[in-house]
Amino acid sequence: MKRTKKVLTLGIETSCDETAAAVVENGLMLRSNVVSSQVNIHAKFAGVVPELASRAHIESVNPVIGAALAEAGITIDEIDYICYTRGPGLAGALLVGQIAAQALASVSGKPLIAVNHLEGHFYAALLEHKKLKTPYLSLIVSGGHTELVVVETLGRYRYLGGTRDDAAGEAYDKVAKLLGLPYPGGPHIDRLAAKGNPAAVKFPRPYLWGSWDFSFSGIKTSVVNLLRHAELEKKSLRVEDVCASFQQAMVETLVEKTFAAARDASLKAVVVGGGVAANAGLRAAMLARGKKERIGVHLPAKEFCTDNAAMIAAAGYLRAVNDRAAEADAYHRIEPDMPITNWKTGRRS
Ligand code: KG4
Ligand code: ZN
Repeated sequence: MKRTKKVLTLGIETSCDETAAAVVENGLMLRSNVVSSQVNIHAKFAGVVPELASRAHIESVNPVIGAALAEAGITIDEIDYICYTRGPGLAGALLVGQIAAQALASVSGKPLIAVNHLEGHFYAALLEHKKLKTPYLSLIVSGGHTELVVVETLGRYRYLGGTRDDAAGEAYDKVAKLLGLPYPGGPHIDRLAAKGNPAAVKFPRPYLWGSWDFSFSGIKTSVVNLLRHAELEKKSLRVEDVCASFQQAMVETLVEKTFAAARDASLKAVVVGGGVAANAGLRAAMLARGKKERIGVHLPAKEFCTDNAAMIAAAGYLRAVNDRAAEADAYHRIEPDMPITNWKTGRRS
């Protein structure tokens, strides 16, 4: 019987406020997944403090890598590729991951692959939906990004649009702060929204038809105005109703535009990634609309929506085996504003 070799990939992710490492087998089978969150460090500042993030990554990165290898039951000698996030993200945070990955590659002699964090989100759904085929439309909704990108084939992308102001997660976090909820506010709004009336307040739906861009600052300003008026008029508002109405406006905007883009590009599959893809309201609305329009909706498990290294290992593996130039940029500088580029041409999508 012919035995195929297992290819083991180590992923390292430090682009924002999670220090993460993971091992995947043959690109898409999870062997270990370790995430050390810095939420407690940043919560009292109601946002990520870049300097504190870098310091926390320095403390955690080696123990987290060690834990990921131990959980997978292997040593670095058995790893075939070391993959790390080279951008986009916070400069100091990215540097810590890059230095750790380069040092590990240097002492172990293993090939090093640089990964674009957004490509990690594009492919995160493949960790569970193994039969998912390109082309598909990817909606990334996180604290730093809201992007609609067509994944035409592995490594070939067509960028449709992105946010012109606040990212979806940023809007959630800012509105949560206005409502006095802890950071990060997305999960708190999500929880309270389930107990509120989504029709209580009519917030705007910023569709920006004519482009595939998003803009969420208007919804946020409407929440500011609502709270100010309520205070002036000494009117009491149910926080659950504000959360449910805000969430309804965000979800409707995201769902309408995503499906309009999928129809426009004649795509039969939609993949959602990034922290806001963990939102219960968004998940339910995406699945319901997909069923109605006969478009497959693929949602990663919540642990693969928020930042993790399994998606970096998966994307790095796919690049390593499909892109002849995969190792070319592993030792280039980190790129805090890294664009999405096509593997074959090296051109921006
Ligand atoms: O992808 P991610 O972990 O990190 C970035 O790359 O930004 O996303 C974090 C963002 C935060 O803004 C957080 O509030 C939001 O995702 N988030 C949620 C939920 N869980 C996390 N937003 C809405 N509902 C959720 N359940
Ligand atoms: Zn992310």
